[in-house]
Amino acid sequence: MCLPSQTESNTLITLALSKGRIFDETLPLIEAAGIRVLEDPNTSRKLILPTSRDDVQVVLVRASDVPTYVAQGGADLGVVGLDTLIEHQAETGGNDLYQPIDLRIAQCRLSVAVRADFDYDSAVQKGSRLRVATKYVHAAREFFAKKGVHVDLIKLYGSMELAPLTGLADAIVDLVSTGNTLKANHLVEVDHIVDISARLVVNPASLKLKRTALQPILSAIDQAVAPRLYTLS
Ligand code: ATP
Ligand code: PRP
Repeated sequence: MCLPSQTESNTLITLALSKGRIFDETLPLIEAAGIRVLEDPNTSRKLILPTSRDDVQVVLVRASDVPTYVAQGGADLGVVGLDTLIEHQAETGGNDLYQPIDLRIAQCRLSVAVRADFDYDSAVQKGSRLRVATKYVHAAREFFAKKGVHVDLIKLYGSMELAPLTGLADAIVDLVSTGNTLKANHLVEVDHIVDISARLVVNPASLKLKRTALQPILSAIDQAVAPRLYTLS
């Protein structure tokens, strides 16, 4: 029988998750790897949560901090939306994260939306400058640059829908799922930028140094995603 080395047998794996939909939708996937989180983040104030496996812990971080934690070794693994990953990669300029699995959870799309009475097509065709409010400045800049549209970007951290209603911006770039938030605020989706889902990201050094411990977890999660793919297609 081949036993893991002393170092690998003592390995602790740290998984970074954000509270809310990412945490909730990741739970069934990690359960496939025998990982059950033992405390509820909605009732506990702890930021490090134990799991049913002594060698795995979960850390709770802001969604936008997940890539930084994993890239810089504060966590070995993390779950993050493609929207956040695009912004992180634009800021760091690269490939500091290994992305082996599209988890197909937290699915939505990044879109452009405007007030129902705003003539987006004319504004875009005329070459006039568009004021665009968004949390996703890199994705928005690239999208409008490809279309040849001049934009003034206004960085916001939330409630993007308010910007066109208050005159702060002509358009927003934000996530859309059911479309209910846009509808409730009398906005309409006018352009689709990219489909979004959550990705598993891995620290490249952890993958090398903790391979024996990590590989079965990655495989189990991959297997747990596969039947979902089959059901959805
Ligand atoms: P932060 O706290 O860092 O500002 P956040 O508030 O965007 O992050 P969440 O709202 O929990 O964090 O969203 C986490 C991820 O879930 C997003 O990055 C996106 O990939 C996905 N997501 C966001 N909104 C929706 C939605 N309405 N439907 C499905 N998935 C969504
Ligand atoms: C996200 C996004 C939109 C909304 C879209 O916000 O920023 O506002 O979901 O979803 P819908 O098309 O199904 O209405 P979220 O609910 O995550 O709240 P947040 O502003 O706290 O991120």
